Amino acid sequence: MAGQTDHALRGNYEHIRTDYTVDQDWAAYSADEHNLWKRLYARQSTLLPRYACDEFLDSLATLNFSAGIPKFAEINPKLKAATNWQIVAVPGLLPDDIFFDHLAHRRFPVTVWLRNPAEFDYIVEPDIFHDFFGHVPLLFDKTFADYLEAYGKGGVKAKGLDALNYLARLYWYTVEFGLIETSKGLRTYGAGILSSGGELPYCIESTKPNRIRFDLLRVMQSKYKIDTFQETYFVIKNFKELFDATAPDFTPYYAELRNRPELSANTILPIDSLVVV
Ligand code: PHE
Ligand code: FE
Repeated sequence: MAGQTDHALRGNYEHIRTDYTVDQDWAAYSADEHNLWKRLYARQSTLLPRYACDEFLDSLATLNFSAGIPKFAEINPKLKAATNWQIVAVPGLLPDDIFFDHLAHRRFPVTVWLRNPAEFDYIVEPDIFHDFFGHVPLLFDKTFADYLEAYGKGGVKAKGLDALNYLARLYWYTVEFGLIETSKGLRTYGAGILSSGGELPYCIESTKPNRIRFDLLRVMQSKYKIDTFQETYFVIKNFKELFDATAPDFTPYYAELRNRPELSANTILPIDSLVVV
């Protein structure tokens, strides 16, 4: 995940470079940490075949990092060959402009520390399991990878237009919590869901949340909750729809959004096209 937090950041920011990257120091992970990774990986793996999109599943199967905390240096040559992206190690959450600059240059920041065992089911801040397991597999998909680069460039621009709150909602409802229609039914491509034991079944099977067909401006109007399962998910048809819908210059969209009301996370509008499970 990316974004602002109001509590002290958890990572060690003492040794950051100017772009906030650090060395991964893989040798420093303990046996307990590798074990916790394996348990997290095993739990998610049993759930994924029913709930994750094929692009994610295929990539995960090829990479297979079930054995312990992965070495970024081992993944990077494969990622470079697939989509020309790279993973960079960071201590945790980043300032917006630094984060956007990495994405705009096809570098995905991954947090180096792993959660505590007590946080097996739930963690407030993104750790290496969320960042790596949730995000990295889809960086191998060409269209999704292009979308993320475009998003980074859009972030730089949105900052200048004072429109970051709108753009952050797009990231939230797509990259973190997006659903996708597939020939096997509704699936997820959102990293916030893919790295969560509880939200994977909930987002697909629960009758509680709203599932609304993706509409770019509607998404950017919609506030979100960060401390509960989502009340609304937006559903895309495929990654090309996402890429194409976000390709135009957003400057007029931001102007239009300032004339529209903000919507709470549980709103359903008459214009919404609902996806029923
Ligand atoms: N096209 C958007 C703009 O001009 C940039 C963007 C691309 C934003 C993809 C989000 C996702 O601002
Ligand atoms: Fe994330």
